[in-house]
Amino acid sequence: MKLLESVHVGDLALHNRVVMAPMTRSRADAEGVVGPMQATYYGQRATAGLIVSEGINISREALGSPLTPGLFTPEHVAAWRTVTNAVHAAGGTIFAQLWHTGRVGHSLVRGGALPVAPSAIRIEGQKHFTSAGPQDYEVPRALTTDEVRATVADYRSAAEHAKAAGFDGVELHGAFGYLPNQFLVDGANHRTDEYGGSIHNRCRFVLEVMTELVAVWGPGRAGIRLSPLVPYNGMVDSDPVALFGHLIGRLNELPLAYLHLMQALFPLDAFPTWPKDALGTFGPLYRGTIVTNGGYDRDRAEAVLVEGRAQLVSFATLFIANPDLVARFAKGAALAAPDRATMYGGGEHGYIDYPAMG
Ligand SMILES: Cc1cc2nc3c(=O)[nH]c(=O)nc-3n(C[C@H](O)[C@H](O)[C@H](O)COP(=O)(O)O)c2cc1C
Repeated sequence: MKLLESVHVGDLALHNRVVMAPMTRSRADAEGVVGPMQATYYGQRATAGLIVSEGINISREALGSPLTPGLFTPEHVAAWRTVTNAVHAAGGTIFAQLWHTGRVGHSLVRGGALPVAPSAIRIEGQKHFTSAGPQDYEVPRALTTDEVRATVADYRSAAEHAKAAGFDGVELHGAFGYLPNQFLVDGANHRTDEYGGSIHNRCRFVLEVMTELVAVWGPGRAGIRLSPLVPYNGMVDSDPVALFGHLIGRLNELPLAYLHLMQALFPLDAFPTWPKDALGTFGPLYRGTIVTNGGYDRDRAEAVLVEGRAQLVSFATLFIANPDLVARFAKGAALAAPDRATMYGGGEHGYIDYPAMG
């Protein structure tokens, strides 16, 4: 089975083409420090060819949700070191997903500080989960040009911390409506400086960040996650084909590890001019390795690899209740279903107590 064949990503030799997709599980402590539970959780899933960690806040400013981990203090670095050690001891490979939530946050979980964003435009029609229950989004504070540059520097320093913590590489969370995605789309970015306006300018932030990540990690160790056709968190662009076409063209100039491309996860009836198939539309534009994601099972994943449309497939939900997903795929074994109530937050239950087969 192609899914179980080894593959090179940059200079990394991965055991198979099954990637554990990034999943926020909201089980860090109040300071964003992970512990033995996370080391066990990721270690249990280390037979994946590659693990991409849950989104990790690059700075205090990046935080949007309670109990999500950080990578900006010595304590964070030391804690993640125990996780990467556990994964490596089990023969696995793990990238850190670098996260800045931008406007997808709330002052209630940010010590009273308003979320920041490219522009003072709030998310409509959704609520944000906070320690005080679901809340309407606030109008975020627009970053100054100097602050945008400082945020790029924060990504660089988080990439350095990821290296110190023993990760094998980093992935920019450029998807799902978080800060980099907010810079890209014209529905969220109304800036008039060099980070807004034309497509060229709206791509500048992401390209500057990726250039820094490559500078820290070298060729083939920095990936990027994009979701061109996911309107969640108010990610609406007037021309996603032109926008992401331009971005991917520029990303081709960098020696990245991979492009992690999310398929559309929601019906797109409200966007009749958008294409429906992100991989079909944007995949052929990328000249490097593609990790495809979104709603795959074993057979659909195998088919997309055999067709040569992607080189790896990532699975999120399936990895929650199936720590040995790779072995189950190999045997064609039954898959356990995850408990939605314990996806976000809580303790060991629903996190590290899903058994392996037999
Ligand atoms: C509990 C949970 C947490 C998630 N957290 C993240 C995250 O931190 N970063 C990210 O890029 N995507 C996150 N996602 C999205 C998944 O990585 C993935 O794109 C999505 O679940 C679709 O893949 P699947 O059909 O294999 O589950 C999360 C999904 C779930 C279910």
